[in-house]
Amino acid sequence: MFSGVLRAHTTASRVTSKAVFQYSSLNGGKFVGCNLQRGFHGWGNVPMGPPDPIFGISEAFKKDDFPKKINLGVGAYRDDTGKPYILPSVQTAEVELLKQDLDKEYLPMTGDAGFRTEATRMAYGDVYDSIRDRLVSAQSVSGTGALLLSSRFLSKYYPSKDIYVSNPTWGNHKNVFSNAGLNIKEYRYYNPVTKGLDIEAPNDSIVLLHACAHNPTGVDPTHAQWNDILRVVREKGHFVLLDMAYQGFASGDFARDTYATQLFASNNIPMFLCQSFAKNMGLYGERVGCFSALTASPEEAARFESQLKILVRASYSNPPVHGARIANFILKNKNLRSQWANEVKGMAGRIISMRQALRTILENDLNSKHSWKHITDQIGMFCYTGLNPEQVATLSKDWHIYLTKNGRISIAGINSSNVRYLAEAIHSVTSH
Ligand SMILES: Cc1ncc(COP(=O)(O)O)c(C=O)c1O
Repeated sequence: MFSGVLRAHTTASRVTSKAVFQYSSLNGGKFVGCNLQRGFHGWGNVPMGPPDPIFGISEAFKKDDFPKKINLGVGAYRDDTGKPYILPSVQTAEVELLKQDLDKEYLPMTGDAGFRTEATRMAYGDVYDSIRDRLVSAQSVSGTGALLLSSRFLSKYYPSKDIYVSNPTWGNHKNVFSNAGLNIKEYRYYNPVTKGLDIEAPNDSIVLLHACAHNPTGVDPTHAQWNDILRVVREKGHFVLLDMAYQGFASGDFARDTYATQLFASNNIPMFLCQSFAKNMGLYGERVGCFSALTASPEEAARFESQLKILVRASYSNPPVHGARIANFILKNKNLRSQWANEVKGMAGRIISMRQALRTILENDLNSKHSWKHITDQIGMFCYTGLNPEQVATLSKDWHIYLTKNGRISIAGINSSNVRYLAEAIHSVTSH
């Protein structure tokens, strides 16, 4: 009896809702809204959000049908014909994995153990063996996922809620950490006058540092400056969060790019590390990354790991399997790994040659009155050009060249066919 009434009522309201929807959609062709359920008044309180500063650029670029358009916004590697590059080592790994006829079962919450071992060994280099029993790791949804795990863990367990990021930094850092309830504070990093490094150490709390190939400035600390940073970190008892999204892209050499990781780990600085294989393996869409935390003892590591698993389980249960298998396959196979190292060297080398070409055309061919030395001084995928927001706007409006408002260009988007056009555009907007 009771269930019969309930069923009748539910059916009636479904019919009413359908009628309201039909009425609404027919009302002069305009949707005027319907009352979905009593007590809920729709999403009127949801404001329209701004487009993402980087992915928004890609959307604008796609809509532009000018043949010479250039996208220098997104940090994704392109080959010299402007095409996305699938690394041959990745292709080989995929073919070999297919032959193994592997299942598609769930991974554990912390991901593929073999992958985690190989990824962290690569990041901590020679220090790895001495810290492995105190190191906790979790395969993450690329670099951003590792940052997300860091932000959630810090927000729950770290005594201070302030995180210091470099000014400027990768825009998404602020989103990730403020979403987890942390307060974003900034430390000075880049000097716009010298277009070089300008670290002013913050006073306390968590400090986020880019392990190599700083985004967006392309200005990394020298080894001496890293030693200075270590001194400050020690004196002030900071917690270090190292973001390593570009291992191999700074120097073209994986080992050389681990200077900061090894320095902090060998000095037993409490730290988290966030690795990404998006850039160095070209696995952008596969979302392969690794979060790791250096703890004080194996006992602390066990407690930490138990909470990390709980965090992962409640967030996405367990990470995706395919990309981690590819990365693990390459990292474990001696020949493929050295092939991969050469491919990364090749990508880093092409980027360096594009920096050189852009600078040479600006200074020698176009006789720009400005110095463009910083284009070749800076390293990694990006160059912080020093162009102001109006010049950036003119580049997109008049030249169909797309970059972030802060004047950052992804050098990976430059190639032998468009470098002259880009130089002419930059020269034009900086000549008045
Ligand atoms: C500094 C920095 N950290 C982290 C990431 C995360 O990238 P992904 O989530 O694609 O690995 C990026 C990507 O551009 C980055 O530039």
